[in-house]
Amino acid sequence: MAVSREKLEELLKQEMRKIYSETVIDHSMNPRNTGNPGDADGYAKVTGPCGDTIEMWLRVKDNIICDASFVTDGCSTTIASGSMVTEMTKGRTAGEAQRISQRDILDALGGLPEDSEHCALLASNTLKEAIRDYLVMKKEPWKKVYRQH
Ligand code: FES
Repeated sequence: MAVSREKLEELLKQEMRKIYSETVIDHSMNPRNTGNPGDADGYAKVTGPCGDTIEMWLRVKDNIICDASFVTDGCSTTIASGSMVTEMTKGRTAGEAQRISQRDILDALGGLPEDSEHCALLASNTLKEAIRDYLVMKKEPWKKVYRQH
């Protein structure tokens, strides 16, 4: 007997609800802001101690981050963390976004299991690195020519 995609999704969500908040489930199953937008003002690729990587791109206009996106090879909680941090970043100045911490991401997600909290740290570290890259490129725009992404 074939099980419909909707039924499978619901069964998966039921299992996930035993461990994760609704926000984590939503952001891991429907991640926001994924993909490489092309010509970014800030970029970072950071690999955490677990071996998972997040790549992040920022677009900045008049010192406001107007677009943030990411890709990751990590698990569902890494996806949720990347999705949430890019949502939290948009509309903030570089200085404000730099202050988004692991704790802020965890709070916005409604928490993560202790052994997944490092996923939020990887997301916040990648954001900080992308902002650092933006600030360097702003000072020395010629460096952008040598960028591969
Ligand atoms: Fe490695 Fe999430 S399990 S960053």
